[in-house]
Amino acid sequence: MDLRGWLRSKMVLLVLGLLAFACGKKEDGSGPIKIGHFASMTGAQATFGISTDRAIQLAIKERNAKGGVKGRMIEVKTIDDAGKQSEAATAVTRLINDYGAVAILGEVASSLSLAGGPIAQKSKIPMISPSSTNPDVTSIGDYVSRVCFLDDFQGWVVAKFAFENLKAKKAAILYDQAQAYSSALGKFFEQSWKEMGGEITVKAAYTGGNLEISSQLQQLAGSESDVIFLPGYYSDAATIIRKAREQGIKAVFIGGDGWDSEELHKIAGNALDGNYFANHYSPLEDRPEVKNFVEKYRAEYKAEPDGLAALGYDAALLLFDAMDRAKSLAGPDLRDAINSTKNFTGVTGTFSIDAKRNAKKSAVIIEIKDGKQRIAARVEKK
Ligand code: PHE
Repeated sequence: MDLRGWLRSKMVLLVLGLLAFACGKKEDGSGPIKIGHFASMTGAQATFGISTDRAIQLAIKERNAKGGVKGRMIEVKTIDDAGKQSEAATAVTRLINDYGAVAILGEVASSLSLAGGPIAQKSKIPMISPSSTNPDVTSIGDYVSRVCFLDDFQGWVVAKFAFENLKAKKAAILYDQAQAYSSALGKFFEQSWKEMGGEITVKAAYTGGNLEISSQLQQLAGSESDVIFLPGYYSDAATIIRKAREQGIKAVFIGGDGWDSEELHKIAGNALDGNYFANHYSPLEDRPEVKNFVEKYRAEYKAEPDGLAALGYDAALLLFDAMDRAKSLAGPDLRDAINSTKNFTGVTGTFSIDAKRNAKKSAVIIEIKDGKQRIAARVEKK
């Protein structure tokens, strides 16, 4: 290579380096406001990430059409973590260090928020989880908050419904030992169930994604349970329910928010009928906020917004509201604004961020009948 060629190649490297630096530039009060989203856009929980991301994009589009935040447009970068813990941590690092996000939205799955949260905390960049319900998520620190209810509440909600409404007395629990969400929710249900005077027949575990569970199903079949609590994510839950029915297990299955996906219906089909799960909201609710959101989401995506979408939308709106109030978009100022949110009204209800950065919310119980969902009960926050 001659000298000129050598110089040219060095120049190209320099320009590329400057460009990378400019794109990853930190918040300086100009240009678009950057928000990072880490989500399972692929993998076994793909509908969680896709629904959440669609709702966030919708919230941003609407806000930008009204002039953005602090007179600046909002921009989001989404990194797919494929539902894996190691990738969740890397995604948050990249969103903060390379992209220059002023705030992070995510994750849905509690284990993934537990993996990504410590990085946001260390970097002093606020992270709002739309839908991670495990209590430990916000214990990470003062930069991590959420807009959904917690699993101690959710476990109680499901137990109360099964005990009082279904008049069940004997319950089995089958939980996913690989997910913080599932194992803790199983425990919370068990505690509430026993306090109410219910009996636990069987407590068994499986590992998400690996459904060789014939011995667990045998245990369940021999247990004479009225209900089987299955606090897993939708793809496993749907397959388990289908297999259980094929083996003649007749107990009613009850689940948590992790069932919330259209895929649940696609995988389990008829086997879903007569079962129930707790959720954060239903598109069938009549509140004006719900109707308005459902209409806009349908128009945009030709799809029904599930609970993930509603919570993703609320997390984004709460973040914009905090940005409006924050002294600046620097981490500590934005954190203070998020953490002092009071009486925020979103699609999923009216709530405040409490001293532990959690939200108190009501829950709905969804019944599946003839392949369709209906609201069986509403359980108020406590
Ligand atoms: N609550 C679940 C978790 O913490 C995630 C989830 C929320 C799934 C809402 C579906 C609907 O892991």
